[in-house]
Amino acid sequence: MKEGNQSSTLGFILLGITGQQQQEDVFFILFLFIYPSTLIGNLLIILAIHSDIRLHNPMYFFLANLSFVDILFSSVTVPKMLANHLLGSKTISFEECLTQMYFMIALATTDSYILAVMAYDRVVAISCPLHYTIFISPRSCFLLVVGSWVIANASALPNVLLTSSLSFCGNQEVANFYCDISSLLKLSCSDIHFNVQMMHIGVGVFCVPLMCIIISYVLVFSIVLRVPSTKGVLKAFSTCGSHFTVVSLYYGTVMGVYFCPLTSYSQKDAVITVMYTAVTPMLNPFIYSMRNQDMKAALRKLFSKRISS
Ligand SMILES: *[C@@H]1O[C@H](CO)[C@@H](O)[C@H](O)[C@H]1NC(C)=O
Repeated sequence: MKEGNQSSTLGFILLGITGQQQQEDVFFILFLFIYPSTLIGNLLIILAIHSDIRLHNPMYFFLANLSFVDILFSSVTVPKMLANHLLGSKTISFEECLTQMYFMIALATTDSYILAVMAYDRVVAISCPLHYTIFISPRSCFLLVVGSWVIANASALPNVLLTSSLSFCGNQEVANFYCDISSLLKLSCSDIHFNVQMMHIGVGVFCVPLMCIIISYVLVFSIVLRVPSTKGVLKAFSTCGSHFTVVSLYYGTVMGVYFCPLTSYSQKDAVITVMYTAVTPMLNPFIYSMRNQDMKAALRKLFSKRISS
């Protein structure tokens, strides 16, 4: 136990995305483009929504929240990866490692709950438009957003506390480019039975919103199909289409990680990890603004205001 604690204070070695130098170089260049695009894209979404009074409604406030979480989410892993690559270092301290793990769990879960809140918002808008302002009042919006953050942090905290009490004797090589909980648990020489159970609860908490989203879509489709006009159908599909794309991308990639765990390196795992840590947060703003006329108009206005002033 004493020996274990001693080695844990030395920190860990992040082996990288594939563990091979040449491929790490390629990913470094890729992330060098992806990360700034993520920051700028999501920041523009937040600015456009907050500067255009026509977008001051719950749907867009939730979207701004999603962008905010995406900025934080990619900032937890990517800058450290870029810095380590530049410095030719692979180390991460024990504290940094746990911090990364905490924010990865908390932010991924927050993202998941905000996607569910967005689905709920669309269901109410489509199924009872007359009572929309009652169900989705400013107060309930606030509670839904705060609730998402509280649940996510309550899920991350016990997982990280339990991991921090583990002993790591000898092997400190994390088979990933950031400290993710499953890679770290594999390195421990303590009994991880309870940790694994806690991690499964965390995965459960993460997946609850997915169930709600699926139910929401079933409700939306059953309502839309009862509407006789094709115009109504098209309108409903256009407001749900972007959300559906983001949801499939997000859960698809995260599920990929859980169903094919990173036991050893493989090309497929590397691609999935890069997808959900870096590519999905970058794509969200593009998916929402490309298909949405109001969003496009708000962005245009944002730019013309900047240019004229
Ligand atoms: C998040 O949503 C809340 C409630 O709708 C809103 O007041 C807040 O401005 C949003 N946050 C961002 C970053 O847009």
